[in-house]
Amino acid sequence: MDKYAVIGNPIKHSLSPQIHSLFAEQTGQALEYTAIRLDEDLFEQQLQQLVESGYRGLNVTVPFKEKAWALCDRLSPRARDAEAVNTLIFQADGLIAGDNTDGIGMTRDMVNNHRILLKHRRILMLGAGGAARGVLGPLLAQQPRQITIANRTLQRAEELVEQFQQPDRYDSELETIPYEDLKQQGFDLIINATSAGLNNEIPPIPDSILGVNTVCYDMMYNLKQPTTFEQWAIERGALRQFDGLGMLVEQAAEAFYIWRGTRPQTSEIIKQLRQQET
Ligand code: ATR
Repeated sequence: MDKYAVIGNPIKHSLSPQIHSLFAEQTGQALEYTAIRLDEDLFEQQLQQLVESGYRGLNVTVPFKEKAWALCDRLSPRARDAEAVNTLIFQADGLIAGDNTDGIGMTRDMVNNHRILLKHRRILMLGAGGAARGVLGPLLAQQPRQITIANRTLQRAEELVEQFQQPDRYDSELETIPYEDLKQQGFDLIINATSAGLNNEIPPIPDSILGVNTVCYDMMYNLKQPTTFEQWAIERGALRQFDGLGMLVEQAAEAFYIWRGTRPQTSEIIKQLRQQET
């Protein structure tokens, strides 16, 4: 049976084995998918062992996405932009190819599952770390009017703008803003790409940026209750708010497609994950 796995540290709570097993069952593919914890200081050797023991591909999660990117022999354009990979393909010629399906996973969840319009819209992105970099390319490909990036460390936001400001590829306006200057309403969509939620915090944003038509999207997810950022949005009357569970399933579906050439149906699986007892 073809073997796949997700690698990360910690990895115990990963939903990926369950998601990929459901995909395999649904599409009639015979494969095995497990979760493997690698050590931060032995990453390269342990990855090599997985290649040698016959895995066909891996998903990569925190904290290894950048390290895995650095050792790929081939990179997709979106992985090159993201400077991180979440999907590895161990090719027949022995080379390792890397892709990043996080951004396409997020935009598919927004557009297909939640019917969020992105074209010509004004987007506020909170955060300028790896998570933000990973989704900016696919987000820009949806042709929003503007993406404003707010970050505590403004320089990181400026670096992202510099990297992604490519008039020949994208028409969108791309700009940075310090949190203290965030005042105006008028954003159609606010994306939380910070890791603040890990400590049940939200970035320092004023209530006034939330208009009656603003949709909020948290790249993190909670199965059972709204995330801290969703809670903030609910309390202030956002039009709609979503967490990143759909993004998780969609990035997995794209990885599955890359490996197996068949695209699973995601909506029932998202529902099933949300309803299950944890
Ligand atoms: P990730 O891969 O999750 O993006 P990261 O590269 O460490 O991880 O980036 C974390 C992001 O969350 C950064 O944008 C960080 O802001 P700084 O660059 O200014 O550190 C942001 N972040 C983390 N905790 C935050 C908080 N409590 N409030 C606001 N931003 C926060």
